[in-house]
Amino acid sequence: MKEEYSFWCRGSPNVEAFREQDMSEIQMVKDALATAKRVAALTGAGISAESGVPTFRGGGGTAVWKGMRFDQISSSEMVKADLPAVWEWFDYRRGVLRECEPNPAHFAIAKWQEQFESLALVTQNIDGLHRAAGSRDVIEVHGNIHRSRCISCGALYQMDRDTVPHNPDVCGCGSKVRPDVVLFGEMLPEGAYEKGAEAAASCDVFFTIGTSALVYPAAMLPEIAKRSGALLVEVNPEETPLTAICDASLRGKAGEILPSL
Ligand code: OAD
Repeated sequence: MKEEYSFWCRGSPNVEAFREQDMSEIQMVKDALATAKRVAALTGAGISAESGVPTFRGGGGTAVWKGMRFDQISSSEMVKADLPAVWEWFDYRRGVLRECEPNPAHFAIAKWQEQFESLALVTQNIDGLHRAAGSRDVIEVHGNIHRSRCISCGALYQMDRDTVPHNPDVCGCGSKVRPDVVLFGEMLPEGAYEKGAEAAASCDVFFTIGTSALVYPAAMLPEIAKRSGALLVEVNPEETPLTAICDASLRGKAGEILPSL
């Protein structure tokens, strides 16, 4: 039943071209980058939209899968209530990802590693596309879809990108495994948020890219950067709750804007 699987907002709202106002903001960001030593970025689902990975929100929509809101199927309660359904959803997404490659936005950020004294990349994405584009030391605050974890002993299993459905299903200790991702109602991996917060507090320029900035604590990072004196730059076709505190809001697709910087 194809319809059951259609999970919704493709997430790239219509943006024909940069607004005129963006051109001066782009110049301001370019000038800041010319002297910046420390750069940090928080990325969200929108950066992978041009790779063909659907977003959760955006364009007025919310992702639904088999009649369930994405935050219901991606929850800690669901792991307890119906682990096979959770796996079905994540295996479906892993299937989608088999066809996806990094886009110019991922590659632009990977290049920043060589350009600045320090680059901290924090991603809420679990798709692994930053690494595939060459980014090192990616802080994956919501885990990785290609890894699974034993629900009892915590043993980790790396899954091959092409292994869909997941394997193994059972850990060596005999317990079930689950996706090693952060679900609603769960804490972030130890130290991940702290690393991001440290980078946000000490950078010259902070980018918030392709995120609706609605999910905490990740959405705190741009606020920390702003309070600490960084230039705060948003790259998103749509406004977000962060827009009001951003120094520059570049309205458009990350895959077009980031390479142009
Ligand atoms: P969302 O799906 O909430 O937001 C995607 C954002 O990307 C929206 O603001 C879009 O306007 C924007 N966008 C769409 N196309 C874009 C493009 N081509 N270039 C730039 N931006 C674009 O995704 P996140 O903010 O990442 O958490 O969602 C945060 C968390 O909520 C996710 O990590 C996930 C989800 O539940 C967990 O699974 C724990």
